[in-house]
Amino acid sequence: MFITFEGIDGSGKSTQIQFLKTLLEDKGHKVTVLREPGGNIVSEKIRTLLLDSQEQIEPRSELLLFTAARAQLVSKVIRPALESGDIVICDRYIDSSVAYQGYGRGLSIKDIEQINAFATNDLIPDITFIFDLPVEDAAIRAGFRSTDSKSAPDRMEQSGEEFFKKTREGYLRIAESSERKIFIIKANDDVEDIREQVKNIIDSFITNT
Ligand code: TYD
Repeated sequence: MFITFEGIDGSGKSTQIQFLKTLLEDKGHKVTVLREPGGNIVSEKIRTLLLDSQEQIEPRSELLLFTAARAQLVSKVIRPALESGDIVICDRYIDSSVAYQGYGRGLSIKDIEQINAFATNDLIPDITFIFDLPVEDAAIRAGFRSTDSKSAPDRMEQSGEEFFKKTREGYLRIAESSERKIFIIKANDDVEDIREQVKNIIDSFITNT
């Protein structure tokens, strides 16, 4: 089973991913947790380039770099893990490219879908959680108001609030238009409530305890 977590920066995905990992391991599953871009040496190198705030990267190059990192991760790590029976949880996947590079940067959604179908050899998630919250609430946590942040914002975080508003809208449109199993989680709910929501959804798909 392949589960993905999505949402704008600072939406609190990582806490819930750790929780879900523990929950599934307690049920006896082997779980591989990955993040995008990253999860293997080549993709981590691409990540460093993509997030480097000193670089200026054109939208099309940005898309191709994120997608190249994904192609490597799918082939080297995700497919082998799924084939060995692991549950794979990935922090971001193709929906991030559609939301950020498509709705955020304005590239063609159709092109993004085609390039990603090629890159991943049509691997799509079984379940996707989209963590949704107003950009104003996410901003402080993500640090793209640099005065509020502990560390300097990375290149993506420097894209500004308008960009993130479009990205958030993009995620909502993905959820509306997709036939996949996509669940929107209100990310500014109480952390325990979110945990419960994620647990209930997962329990309905994975029955053995
Ligand atoms: P990261 O620090 O992992 O963000 P987060 O912790 O919020 O998940 O940085 C990844 C950044 O790259 C984030 O701003 C989202 C962006 N991104 C894209 O724009 N397109 C993509 O396809 C992916 C995977 C990520």
